[in-house]
Amino acid sequence: MSEKITVGILRENDTLENRVSLVPKDVKLLIQMGLSVELEDGAGEKAGFLNGQYEDVGAKVSMKLSNGTNIITSVNAFSSKDNKYIKDSLVISTTNVRTDNKVTEICEKNNLSLLAMEFVPRIARAQKLDSLSSQASIAGYKAGLIVANSLNKYLPLMMTAAGTIPPAKVLVLGAGVAGLQAIATVKRLGAEVTGYDIRLAAGEQIRSLGAKFISDEVPEDSEVKDGYAKEQSEENQKSQLEFIKEHIIKSDAVISTAAIPGRPAPRLIEQKTVELMKPGSIIVDVSAPFGGNCECTKLGEIITVNDTKVYGPSNLPSEMAFDASTVYSKNILSLIELLIKDEKMDINLQDEIIDAMLVIEKGKKRIGV
Ligand code: NAI
Repeated sequence: MSEKITVGILRENDTLENRVSLVPKDVKLLIQMGLSVELEDGAGEKAGFLNGQYEDVGAKVSMKLSNGTNIITSVNAFSSKDNKYIKDSLVISTTNVRTDNKVTEICEKNNLSLLAMEFVPRIARAQKLDSLSSQASIAGYKAGLIVANSLNKYLPLMMTAAGTIPPAKVLVLGAGVAGLQAIATVKRLGAEVTGYDIRLAAGEQIRSLGAKFISDEVPEDSEVKDGYAKEQSEENQKSQLEFIKEHIIKSDAVISTAAIPGRPAPRLIEQKTVELMKPGSIIVDVSAPFGGNCECTKLGEIITVNDTKVYGPSNLPSEMAFDASTVYSKNILSLIELLIKDEKMDINLQDEIIDAMLVIEKGKKRIGV
């Protein structure tokens, strides 16, 4: 009988990472598909999934993944120089391969293939394996909660015997997956919400959540392939900054989520604008891991400028690790399902999803990536 395909779940090396790449219920499905699964000791613990739960569904728990593991799954497999890589395997992980040469070097040295989760094409068939969306949605939700928790005001309108309190004004910059979830979250809590984006299609989505859409006179729609935004010219950027400034200084809280794939996050909030905000205002810069939308943002820190607090969260999905892992795991399972035919590995480059996500094949970077 031929050997089973083996899947190894890596324990994340980054101490600030609480998520795990596969959860027990999906491990059970992989085992039912005829695969064998190995978990690095304690890999799920910080997300709330214990070794015993993996063992109960048929996984093996080891201190280190066995040599010869065919598929290795991770949230961020290349976060540490100290990782020991298993030669010749296929790694499925979110990476910084676009900006960090180290990832390519490690793959080359260890003859690894890499399916990079951030390369998912934004097409309907790929939605169930789209971890950019599943994790961004959590980041947006959490950003909304930071606003609710940290602002020294009610979010909703309050009519009390002691007087009427107006709703807090929240401005959301960038209305992709994270921005729309942030809008929905603070809207549900009763805030007066305004959304801004340079893609015209975003306007309709912002309004459908009951928020107000603002747009400046961008001469053309800024949407490009796959629904992403394009980087703005210097001239557009300047007029954009002036336009948003007026709205920022009227707001009690700003959640900024604007991003351009593979590029630094666009600067939308200048320090001089932060200095003009009302005392007690807050900014939650969800784009902090990509360089930040605010000039004052410091990754992983909360800083105060005049009387405004600027949050630069480094990993919001990790702060809600149980559900973040559950949906990430579903994304990974859906990808593995595309790779297995009759219990054998079949990396089909005719499939546009695999073609887009297979960034490195047997140690070599693929053309066009
Ligand atoms: P993203 O994380 O790349 O960017 C976030 C938002 O920032 C985007 O809405 C973008 O337009 C906006 N932005 C960029 N530069 C800006 C600037 N200078 N000023 C203001 N806003 C700016 O986007 P995300 O969340 O990954 O979504 C990208 C697109 O993909 C969206 O159109 C979304 O609807 C689409 N999508 C499609 C899916 C599918 O069909 N499978 C799944 C998920 C998203």
